[in-house]
Amino acid sequence: MSQIGIFYGPQLGSVEKVANLIAERLGKDRVELIPVKNCEAEVINKFDNIIFGASTIGKTNWDSEYKDTDWDVFATKLENANWQGKKVAIYSLGDHIQYAEHFVDAIGWIYERLEKLNVEVVGFCPAEDYDFIESEGVRNGQFMGLPVDEDTEPEMTDLRVKNWVKRLINEFGF
Ligand SMILES: Cc1cc2nc3c(=O)[nH]c(=O)nc-3n(C[C@H](O)[C@H](O)[C@H](O)COP(=O)(O)O)c2cc1C
Repeated sequence: MSQIGIFYGPQLGSVEKVANLIAERLGKDRVELIPVKNCEAEVINKFDNIIFGASTIGKTNWDSEYKDTDWDVFATKLENANWQGKKVAIYSLGDHIQYAEHFVDAIGWIYERLEKLNVEVVGFCPAEDYDFIESEGVRNGQFMGLPVDEDTEPEMTDLRVKNWVKRLINEFGF
């Protein structure tokens, strides 16, 4: 059975916790967990099915100050991978109360970069399942990935991950 690569960052916080939950649900024998820190584009080439996990740390931060976050660096390498026949699903950690106007913007930030490379993105979620004001992660009523809020709704995480993984198994074609 082909492997799924979960590329995630940062490490040690909620993004990593959710990477592990997703891996457990998918079955650990199917999954390789790869921190994006110091990861090169060639590693992407090993997988047909890929999950990208990130935190959202604020639009201003994405665009300016935090130029050297793990994801800022990894994102510059994406164009060097061979994307032929690959599917990517995105998840982002966020906080729907404190950052209601920028809830999980990272989903949109990653999606835009994949869109430019003509990569097929799967694992969309209905926006109506979440309470927020605005998000760059939403198009046509759907998040282009899975939002998870460990800061204010940790009790929802297991069910959200469970339902998303069920959909992914289908959309990845297992
Ligand atoms: C400086 C800062 C800015 C943040 N900005 C946003 C934001 O714009 N949108 C959002 O949904 N969450 C935002 N958050 C919440 C984080 O995404 C959330 O705490 C996440 O779980 C952090 O992931 P980590 O524990 O793996 O680092 C922000 C958190 C911090 C500390």
